[in-house]
Amino acid sequence: MSATVEPTCDLTKLDPILARYPAERRSLVMVLQDAQKTYQYLPRPVLERIAEALKVPRSHVYHLATFYKAFSLEPRGRHICTVCLGTACHVRGALRLVEHVERRAGIKAGATTPDLELTLETVNCVGACALGPVVIVDGEYVGSATTTKLDKALKGIVKGAVEEQQA
Ligand code: FES
Repeated sequence: MSATVEPTCDLTKLDPILARYPAERRSLVMVLQDAQKTYQYLPRPVLERIAEALKVPRSHVYHLATFYKAFSLEPRGRHICTVCLGTACHVRGALRLVEHVERRAGIKAGATTPDLELTLETVNCVGACALGPVVIVDGEYVGSATTTKLDKALKGIVKGAVEEQQA
């Protein structure tokens, strides 16, 4: 169940963002950053409206939106769970943690739950190898992560996890 339903996107939220910057090419990254913050990702109609407003080719807007890792073209969840799969974390069982969250949330790594509650991501080393395996839930580091610690961190976010624990 990894398919994500794209939410409807309210283009009027773009107006205050576009009003903040000069309507020219050099504003593009800043406008994209603010749009990403507002929508949690960059929906296609938003990118097209930005291209039109800043008078830059759509291809350039898409290029930038896909070039920077901070931007996402897919809907992202209100909560982000990032499991480190760098070598130090991998040898301490990080893959098992990914599989655990995948099972709990019913999605694959890289996907978002259909209710847009959770996005599960993996990264290669977040620079805290001594704490491995490391998982980051909404910016909070969970060091020496275990499935129990993860369930605790995800409680209230992943409905399935709570239900399964209570069953
Ligand atoms: S490998 Fe996971 S923090 Fe470095």
